Amino acid sequence: MELQGKRIALGVTGGVAAYKAAELVRLLLKQGATVQVAMTDAATHFVTPVTFQALSGQPVFTDQWDARIGNNMAHIDLSREADALLVAPASADFLAKVAHGLADDLLSTLVLARDCPLLVAPAMNRQMWENPATRRNVATLRADGVAVLGPGCGDQACGETGLGRMLEPEEIVAELIAHFQPKPLKGRRLLLTAGPTFEAIDPVRGITNLSTGKMGYAIARAAHEAGAEVTLVSGPVALPCPYGVTRIDVTSALQMRDAVLAQTAGSDVFVAVAAVADYRPAAPAEQKIKKDGGTPPAIELTLNPDILAEVAALPHPPLCVGFAAESQKLDEYAEKKRRAKKIPLIVGNLIQNGFGGDDNTLVLFDDDGRHPLPPASKIDLARRLVAHIATLLEKN
Ligand code: CTP
Repeated sequence: MELQGKRIALGVTGGVAAYKAAELVRLLLKQGATVQVAMTDAATHFVTPVTFQALSGQPVFTDQWDARIGNNMAHIDLSREADALLVAPASADFLAKVAHGLADDLLSTLVLARDCPLLVAPAMNRQMWENPATRRNVATLRADGVAVLGPGCGDQACGETGLGRMLEPEEIVAELIAHFQPKPLKGRRLLLTAGPTFEAIDPVRGITNLSTGKMGYAIARAAHEAGAEVTLVSGPVALPCPYGVTRIDVTSALQMRDAVLAQTAGSDVFVAVAAVADYRPAAPAEQKIKKDGGTPPAIELTLNPDILAEVAALPHPPLCVGFAAESQKLDEYAEKKRRAKKIPLIVGNLIQNGFGGDDNTLVLFDDDGRHPLPPASKIDLARRLVAHIATLLEKN
């Protein structure tokens, strides 16, 4: 329920993607928002107001002369009561109108009369998106402080492929949630590792760690919400990349180290969340090992590089943050790791409290001592951690 209590005015304009706005309403309600829909006349040719009325549980407005609003001030009332005005899908025509301040129907009037933030999720044919007129209009909207969400790339209703597709409803909701978060990392670049590594024994077998990647992915999302440009170097996990985050996929610790070192220049923060395998087979077999004779093969191991310690030892390191997953003596072991790796901040967690799950308990250790975070969901903890990182960055 990440939009609990938020009042969202949702504008729907004419485009095939209007059908996805129905799903968007459902997802917004699921996150605790109330949704007031206003449609352009063109939008009603794609989906009827009845659909949105049934889904939102609120009357839908399409006409600025609607007699249901006593004082005939629908254009002021509907967006004045909202915490955000979201237009999805936003057609090329609609973007042009907003860029030029036109107000010739209910939705464009709502936009002009608003005193809340405006977010638009464009949806159009790729050539319309690339047209210089649209480029100009979008640039104007951005300069006016309008949040332009997407568009995405992919197959279009017209049969073409390219940029112009409306973001998926889940992505729009994630961006709306992000919109309401504070931006203490605006203008910062954050690099992080997440997930396990997999160290090959032979082409079909390997050594790995138990790690779902959930905590690291939550931190990537929280950092994006906080305004950072985020690069996530990820071991093999079954999670989708958070919207707005750049993901680099790796398998082994050596690949992870190379990917990280290629990205450290220009990064303000490095957060090592990955459960890196401490050791790897010294000489992985090129062919599958057969169980001939039944004698168990001996696997010689060699030490993997400590990625976090290497980054922390660079001449001008980013602010380095480590994780210490311990089964006992959390304070002692976490602080010991922080000193050994020479990092300003380490995040301790007792592994019986939330390995693999959606909730967790964390304690932060830095030069000022220990800062326990109350038990919460991984995304809430990630947001608190990101806020703490931002205060350390400020101090530096
Ligand atoms: N780390 C890393 N590269 C490694 C090993 C660990 O970047 N090769 C990072 C992890 O991402 C985490 C922290 O270092 O941030 C964990 O420290 P580490 O001492 O390696 O933890 P464990 O392997 O759990 O140590 P131990 O087995 O001694 O408890």
